[in-house]
Amino acid sequence: MKVTEAEIVISAVSKKQYPETHMPEIALAGRSNVGKSSFINKMINRKNLVRTSQKPGKTQTLNFYKINERFHFVDVPGYGYAKVSKRERNAWGRMLEEYFTERENLKAVVLLVDIRHKPTKDDVTMYDFLKHYELPVVVVATKLDKIPKGKRVQHIKRAADELQLEQEDIILPFSSETGEGKEEAWGVLKHFL
Ligand code: GTP
Ligand code: MG
Repeated sequence: MKVTEAEIVISAVSKKQYPETHMPEIALAGRSNVGKSSFINKMINRKNLVRTSQKPGKTQTLNFYKINERFHFVDVPGYGYAKVSKRERNAWGRMLEEYFTERENLKAVVLLVDIRHKPTKDDVTMYDFLKHYELPVVVVATKLDKIPKGKRVQHIKRAADELQLEQEDIILPFSSETGEGKEEAWGVLKHFL
């Protein structure tokens, strides 16, 4: 997809702040620091439209980015970051649950996992949650540039096994560093738009 326009619409914490539109949305999910914000930047060719950080916990709100006046990417705060209080974690849970379960515009969720590691318990929980609500899930195994080429197939298979991916679900290797996997990711995502 050729991206000609990309802009932030709003940082929302609750339903009443979601943009009032019928545009389809694709949301990101995944643990803190896995590379959700970097994924959006790479897909839309913007180095810094979406704020990223080496420290986990950078994204704190639901951030809606309007792309080509046609759809939204929704950047979502990550999970599994130890340094948050119970209260913050509960607020985060409510914010995500409200979005994932009630937003009619939401057409698919890109679940990012780190290709270097076995998916965590939280990754499995998130995958199961999304499937429970019958949301189409595209698993993107990112940070592909960090493993040797010879290990790719093995690592992808391990992630698919661990998440117990259903037949219709797709898993794609990706790197926000090199852009590898970008065309394949657009190839899959365009079907939801
Ligand atoms: P939160 O907002 O905290 O949930 O994190 P996030 O998932 O949005 O992660 P973010 O995109 O901010 O990236 C975290 C760190 O990982 C940054 O230092 C990125 O530069 C790095 N990173 C992300 N994707 C890749 C990748 O594909 N390869 C490499 N080498 N580094 C990456
Ligand atoms: Mg982020």
